[in-house]
Amino acid sequence: PIEERIDLLMNQMTLEEKVGQMNQYNGFWDVTGPTPKGGTAEIKYEHLRKGWVGAMLSVKGVKEVKAVQKIAVEETRLGIPILFGLDVIHGYKTLSPIPLAEAASWDLEAIKKSAQVAADEASASGINWTFGPMMDVSRDARWGRVMEGAGEDPFLGSKIAVARVQGFQGETSADLAKANTIAACAKHFAAYGFVEAGREYNTVDISNSNLYNLVLPPFQAAKEAGVRTFMNSFSILNGVPATGSSFLQRELLKGKWNFDGFIVSDWGSIREMKNHGFAKDAVDATAKAVIAGSDMDMESHFYVAELVNLVKSGKVKEALIDDAVRRILRVKFELGLFDNPYKYCDEAREKAVVGSKAINEAVLDMAKKSIVLLKNENNLLPLKKSGLKIALIGSLANDKTSPLGGWRVASEDGTAVSVLEGMQSYKGNTVAFEKGADLTIGKTTFVNELVFNTTDKSGFEAAKNLAKNSDVVVMVLGEHGFQSGEARSRSNLDLPGVQQELLEEVFKVNPNIVLVLNNGRPLVLSWAKEHIPAIVEAWQLGTQTGNAVAQVIYGDYNPSGKLPMSFPRNVGQCPIYYNYYSTGRPTNDEKNVFWSHYTDVENTPLYPFGYGLSYTKFEYKNLKVSKPEYNKGETVKVTIEVTNTGNYDGKEVVQLYLHDVVASIARPVQELKGFELTNLKKGETKTITFTLTDKELGFFNNEGNYQVEPGTFKIRVGGSSDSGLETQFELK
Ligand code: IFM
Repeated sequence: PIEERIDLLMNQMTLEEKVGQMNQYNGFWDVTGPTPKGGTAEIKYEHLRKGWVGAMLSVKGVKEVKAVQKIAVEETRLGIPILFGLDVIHGYKTLSPIPLAEAASWDLEAIKKSAQVAADEASASGINWTFGPMMDVSRDARWGRVMEGAGEDPFLGSKIAVARVQGFQGETSADLAKANTIAACAKHFAAYGFVEAGREYNTVDISNSNLYNLVLPPFQAAKEAGVRTFMNSFSILNGVPATGSSFLQRELLKGKWNFDGFIVSDWGSIREMKNHGFAKDAVDATAKAVIAGSDMDMESHFYVAELVNLVKSGKVKEALIDDAVRRILRVKFELGLFDNPYKYCDEAREKAVVGSKAINEAVLDMAKKSIVLLKNENNLLPLKKSGLKIALIGSLANDKTSPLGGWRVASEDGTAVSVLEGMQSYKGNTVAFEKGADLTIGKTTFVNELVFNTTDKSGFEAAKNLAKNSDVVVMVLGEHGFQSGEARSRSNLDLPGVQQELLEEVFKVNPNIVLVLNNGRPLVLSWAKEHIPAIVEAWQLGTQTGNAVAQVIYGDYNPSGKLPMSFPRNVGQCPIYYNYYSTGRPTNDEKNVFWSHYTDVENTPLYPFGYGLSYTKFEYKNLKVSKPEYNKGETVKVTIEVTNTGNYDGKEVVQLYLHDVVASIARPVQELKGFELTNLKKGETKTITFTLTDKELGFFNNEGNYQVEPGTFKIRVGGSSDSGLETQFELK
């Protein structure tokens, strides 16, 4: 009956009220205080009272949400409740690791649970819609927003997109109506992850093959999983702004994929079509966006100003407005807002849920699972728990804010457990701290450009003295939490500021170093890889950072993370990724210079996609395909034995890569087509089985049609994209 209820309601709506549903405003003022006089806020209140606002963003907290919802429900003619959207990207107040870090767990259940607890906490605080998950596949670590995605691979990215959507929304539409789930948003549709040279908001020019095979699969998977909203993108795609792209929005998403939720624009992206040179003014931009299929205007203020006239003058068909409004109302009905507009506004629940012990335990669990062990020479790790003098060095070690990472929408500064606190919670060793150097100078906020300390080394001596007199040095170095994320592109991927120098200076006096990295993207770690015996990739792990890092360092948790993005040897290798094409000259057979390579660096990355160590060892044996030949449509069965041959119980991500050797469109040298996270006790062997169907064996042609072609398929199964056993089969 939802569709009937929508009909009934739409029959009563004026054109102005319909257009109002398509308008989303940011609530930047104290909405519980008196109505501000003058300026945008006053206009927004006026529009709220007229029923010209369908959704708000950045209004959060039960008291605040209730205050605004009350206006919509009690003061407008039809009392249509409002959607409250927010960037719940990796938690609300209690933060889980940044999404790229979570992706490193390859643990779909854990990732789903992380989205679930984020939805639980955010919904308890009035929120009913998140602008996530971001599912932009990206190959370029220079782009700051890689921290918000699942890395470089469409297969892993699709699985994670589904896990996150189900975590936020639940698995059925009945789940979406529960008070502890929220509507998700697949963003940014599409291809934002391919901004040229990784520079934020830059041009996107990509091939059809990459669009269909790399960019779109996670979005399609999210749609299939029932994601209720999409967000378009700031970027252009092959000359057309995504916001004004009929191809992406009308033809593909709403047409071919039959999506029946709604599309919100990115912040101001309708207005930005003027800057792109695609629309001449507000009227033109509004018409182009709505005709292309953008249903809701986030903060351009164009729809509310122009759409009614555009319809009245016949330039935009009212049917398009009706379609958009129907989609928006549908999501509101599905959330149950018409039955209870205050269902997310329960003060007692807010008090009990936000920051609860259970949520902290869940984010700690996710944080441990996100850590990737990059190097562990001579088993320096795990450290023994008593009798050691430990020097903890690096300002990030004593930082309770930076490890929260970007998009800390409702968490307060200073609420992360620092690595210092985590290490000190183990009482058997002595842990002394020296920062060595400050990372940044001045303000570090979401909106200002960070300034790094590139000169002040006055703390080096104290750090070196401490290191000299310690058994082992733990150095926490990397990026500030606000150095990745939106508008945080970098042309350099080194440790910022004076950190590299600090690392090398400390190394001179005590090389027994465990380097713990805090970063929101792959970094260039060539020197560290060569010299430092143990390297722990700890990203930005959120509220429980210090506890997670300490538990891994002391071996209470055996790391099992694998990199979701390749780490380059130098920035000139970017974009670098594991699923590249062969090229016509892949090897140096002629022993001369004329092959596809750089003359000054190897082609391989420093650490490849899928790579990550454990405190134990895994051995792979007996890779088998059940038959040498298959007919099209048959299921291919692949088995492999994996044994834990080391001294600890552990988990391994067993990865299957496929290569379609000859095809009508060249295929990458390898593509991830299966993985399984498996627990193996010390000495235990398990047989892992993968099944490959048409879904894994085919690819999209340049017209966007999926096809499976006969021929030879090579398979490799192992613990990384650069290792494993190989076999092959024929498809008839
Ligand atoms: O959700 C975000 C988007 O990813 C980038 N621009 C702003 C939006 C709302 O905060």
